[in-house]
Amino acid sequence: MKNNHYSPVILSRIILLATVSVLPALAGCDEIGVGMSEAARRGETIFAGQCATCHRTAAAAPPLEGIVGRPAGAVDYPYSRALREARFTWDAATLEAFLVAPHDTLPGNQMAFYGIEDRQTVADLLAYLEHISN
Ligand code: HEC
Repeated sequence: MKNNHYSPVILSRIILLATVSVLPALAGCDEIGVGMSEAARRGETIFAGQCATCHRTAAAAPPLEGIVGRPAGAVDYPYSRALREARFTWDAATLEAFLVAPHDTLPGNQMAFYGIEDRQTVADLLAYLEHISN
């Protein structure tokens, strides 16, 4: 006789697999993105594409965790003179100005980056930087 039924063991594995893959979606979060706003999520993707090349490795650029509320040029990194001598604390306004026009805002800095024209992109990046600063 042909058996079209799954054995109980296989069946329970299928159910287990289905549950494991559906649960995170139901909970609406994953390990990394816990508590992230939509803007911060978009910012995370933009950061991965435009900033992480340098800011992922401490040798290439200063780490940006905690950047919002941190004095400019404050971590252990061989900063340019422009950043070493900067006397301000990064907040939404200074970060926005810097991201739009890094070299006009902080002449002489050595970040090889032209700046971002699109305001929404800047806002999303800021939301992400705020997220990794909390
Ligand atoms: C080509 C490499 C590179 C890229 C791409 C880059 N950065 Fe930087 N960034 C640097 C370097 C190098 C410095 C330190 C510059 C200096 O000392 O003058 C820096 C400095 C900074 C600082 C000041 C940090 C501090 O401790 O005061 C901020 C904020 C910053 N970057 C944000 C960003 C963001 C956001 C992006 C993506 C939109 C980005 N950077 C893209 C290399 C890069």
